[in-house]
Amino acid sequence: MKKIKTGDGSYTFVDDKYGEVLHSITGAEEEAIKKYAEPTNIAELAMKGEINILDVCFGVGYNSAAAIDAALKANSKCKINILGLEVNDKLLGLVDELTPKFKSYGFIREIKNNSYKDNNITIQLIFGDARKTIKKVKGEFDVCFLDPFSPKTQPEMWTEEFFKDIAAKLKTGAVLATYSCATPVRINLVRAGFDVKDGPSIGRRAPSTIATKVL
Ligand SMILES: C[S@@+](CC[C@H](N)C(=O)[O-])C[C@H]1O[C@@H](n2cnc3c(N)ncnc32)[C@H](O)[C@@H]1O
Repeated sequence: MKKIKTGDGSYTFVDDKYGEVLHSITGAEEEAIKKYAEPTNIAELAMKGEINILDVCFGVGYNSAAAIDAALKANSKCKINILGLEVNDKLLGLVDELTPKFKSYGFIREIKNNSYKDNNITIQLIFGDARKTIKKVKGEFDVCFLDPFSPKTQPEMWTEEFFKDIAAKLKTGAVLATYSCATPVRINLVRAGFDVKDGPSIGRRAPSTIATKVL
């Protein structure tokens, strides 16, 4: 995997199989914070004491690390449970090559045998095609990060069927964040039981999507 520097000075990789970059080239850290951790009510949920996050397409864990930072900043005693779904089991072997500014990136580096656990934080990873592994997921989540490669490259990851399987694992009122604002993606989210609205636009780029589970 080729390592590249993004616009905010943080590094990411170009995926060998799909030829796409794992994060926005305008800023990998910025994307994790602004498009995922900030617009998903993490601080608010953390103040209630516990937060359960489903991280679909975990990658190298930037979105999860940004979320843990946001939760611990709001409430250092908060319990944080993350379930990550990821197909590429080689990525964890690359995290030591990355030095993002997330205070919580150490937790990602500490993942051994697909999990990390201390008194407050649990991270569990399930490797395999998320369209299949989602069906075995147990629990109800407050927040979902949906971060596959683009709809053009991976249309199979943006279908109504997959979104319905994700929705089935979320609490009513749970918030899903994704970088895509493509109309077909939003239509499939609505068909799967979400209300959709614009998420943050970074710079002059198109907005992301924030979807709330309503059914
Ligand atoms: C845009 S990157 C996600 C970056 C990640 N969210 C992070 O914070 O580092 C897309 C990720 O989706 C993963 N992926 C692609 N197809 C998948 C599938 N069918 N099931 C699970 N993960 C998949 C890729 O391996 C890659 O890590």
